[in-house]
Amino acid sequence: MAVVRGMTRVRSQSPPHCLSLNSQQKCFFTMFRNILIGISAALILQHILSVIYSLGFHKRAYNHRPGSCRVVTGIDSGSEDIHVLRNGLALITSGIDLTPLGHLMDPSGLTWKGRIYLFDFKQPNANVTELPILGSFDHSDFRPHGISVWEEETQTTVFVVNHKQHREAIEVLSLNQDNKSLQYLYSITDPLMRSVNDVVAVGSNSFYFTNDGYNNQLFKRFLERFLKFPWGNVIYYDGDAGRGQVVVSRGLEPNGINRSPDGRYIYVSSPIVGTVTVYEQQADHALQPIQVIDLSTSPDNIYVDSTSGDLWLGCHMIGYQSMLHFQNFTQPAASQAFSPVMLMPVAYYKSILFRQCQCKTCNV
Ligand SMILES: *[C@@H]1O[C@H](CO)[C@@H](O)[C@H](O)[C@H]1NC(C)=O
Ligand SMILES: *[C@@H]1O[C@H](CO)[C@@H](O)[C@H](O)[C@H]1NC(C)=O
Ligand SMILES: *[C@@H]1O[C@H](CO)[C@@H](O)[C@H](O)[C@H]1NC(C)=O
Repeated sequence: MAVVRGMTRVRSQSPPHCLSLNSQQKCFFTMFRNILIGISAALILQHILSVIYSLGFHKRAYNHRPGSCRVVTGIDSGSEDIHVLRNGLALITSGIDLTPLGHLMDPSGLTWKGRIYLFDFKQPNANVTELPILGSFDHSDFRPHGISVWEEETQTTVFVVNHKQHREAIEVLSLNQDNKSLQYLYSITDPLMRSVNDVVAVGSNSFYFTNDGYNNQLFKRFLERFLKFPWGNVIYYDGDAGRGQVVVSRGLEPNGINRSPDGRYIYVSSPIVGTVTVYEQQADHALQPIQVIDLSTSPDNIYVDSTSGDLWLGCHMIGYQSMLHFQNFTQPAASQAFSPVMLMPVAYYKSILFRQCQCKTCNV
């Protein structure tokens, strides 16, 4: 009581602030605290605004149909990725697992079945056919995501990301092109497979894959995304050694991954940042970042033209529309096929120059 009264007296006895050393210190701390609060508030506001901006409320999509586009029916139940072989045969994964979205997912997604479809670009007017998977393959535990194919003279090896019920896996299959079937070979699991999105084969027995985040639980993943924690990564898996190794340790939702036709470059997309990062593959399979291409749209999977080396990106143009689409598949979301034009490396300088964007959009 006496102490309190004493303090009250001291305060009331020193009328103007900042006269004694004591109150100068107090002033300094108050000022310092206010500056800290101000900076934090500005940073939080900036973060919230950047998240709102990335949802694309300010964007408008216009239809461009430069080539002859056609809707291929029969693959509209969660098709995620496509790989086109040199002879024009395309393998398409279908039945993506959206259950991590919980109640935010359109319930009809629960009826989807994991399948791999075949489309022949040499017969563009034909429809898809389902590729049967033969061997001791568990069809009921197949929720495919990214796909990649390694082509050799005698063997065509297919790698498919599978979100199994209890763990992530990459299924290895062999494509029989004569009778159009897949033979299941084996499954690869690795402690480094946390939330696998896409895979790119660099040999019949080795590949890179992306983990698009760290948490698998809906709310934790939401926080991870919202706070933009770079907890995704890129892993190289060596089939001979039988284990993976981290080659890009931090990434904000690394998603699609693909390689240049000569295998020198590896491309990784990040829809949340709106970029494609170009890496140079080193002799030990480490990835050396060379360039970040800013796209102002959200690139998902990357297709590389095997002759020209051009990239074609499947993009979610307007973020909030994509989110609404996941909740109700009857809600359309603008999508974009996008090809940034690359110049080949100039002289000795190890860079790929980004010249211009050709916005070749095919909205259907
Ligand atoms: C492809 O499927 C559509 C819709 O199911 C059908 O109308 C069309 O005739 C089919 N085309 C061929 C070449 O079978
Ligand atoms: C295709 O050929 C392979 C190897 O000859 C055989 O094992 C498989 O049963 C065939 N698939 C179909 C669908 O006939
Ligand atoms: C999706 O939207 C349509 C049209 O607005 C509506 O009829 C349907 O019930 C909705 N579906 C779900 C799962 O909410």
